[in-house]
Amino acid sequence: MVKEHWEKEPCESRAGGSLDNETLYFKKIDNYRYEKAPYINGFAKFEEGNGKRVLEVGLGSCSDFIKWARNGANLWGIDLTQASINMAKKRLNLEKLHATVKIGDVEVLDFEDNFFDIVYSYGVVHHTPDTSRAIRELYRVLKPGGIARVMIYHKGGLSWIYEWILFGLLKGHPWKSRREIVFYNNESFGTKIYTKVEAKELFKEFRKINLFTVVSASDVMDIQLSEKYQKVWLFSNLQRCMSFLKYLRPFISSSFGSYMLIEAEK
Ligand SMILES: C[S@@+](CC[C@H](N)C(=O)[O-])C[C@H]1O[C@@H](n2cnc3c(N)ncnc32)[C@H](O)[C@@H]1O
Repeated sequence: MVKEHWEKEPCESRAGGSLDNETLYFKKIDNYRYEKAPYINGFAKFEEGNGKRVLEVGLGSCSDFIKWARNGANLWGIDLTQASINMAKKRLNLEKLHATVKIGDVEVLDFEDNFFDIVYSYGVVHHTPDTSRAIRELYRVLKPGGIARVMIYHKGGLSWIYEWILFGLLKGHPWKSRREIVFYNNESFGTKIYTKVEAKELFKEFRKINLFTVVSASDVMDIQLSEKYQKVWLFSNLQRCMSFLKYLRPFISSSFGSYMLIEAEK
């Protein structure tokens, strides 16, 4: 079910508009991504990939992936979907860059132990059924001293409250928890959200872990809704009414952020 969902529309690809001009299409996707999430560059530290073995898991529209490639990483990328793999190949071709890309599942990585210097996975492992297994796999393929940079959803985020209002409260199920609402309604089926304590437990094998939360564009409803949410009449109207929220973004405490950025050393 996860695969079917992302196969239909790779993450953020709707920002690209028409595919007539591929270079422009990808540029629009990238502009959208880094305008909405400017903190990604500081978190991923793409320049550190230069000359290192880097694996990205869960490529979406490949905006981050192409940055690893531009920065001279010795690069591998896997995704569950053919759609993302095709995009990665197209983008590499357009820029005459090289990387190895293939379909793969983060829960069973097809790489030997202690192979990579950096593994990067942004907004992916909370979608896979066995998230702890996925993180054990990321750990396994990292060299000792290697770094994992992973974004997972944070339970305390505002986005989940909006989802609870729409899919719980207004549908007459106020007793349903945010976890349950997100599991059944967010993006692909089975999506999970984590507290900081739970995230530390997931990464417990790692020697060092540094974790912080950020207020995302979805926390202030400043996103282009996917087809799935556009169909929910209430969601698009709520978004319209709350459009002022984006101006408050700099003032909202990061504890209300839905994204948890984790850097962990093996
Ligand atoms: C929310 S998108 C994030 C994509 C990209 N990292 C980004 O930030 O835009 C999730 C991506 O992870 C991929 N994915 C989901 N489960 C996966 C799994 N078990 N193994 C590999 N990729 C997976 C999906 O196909 C999709 O491309």
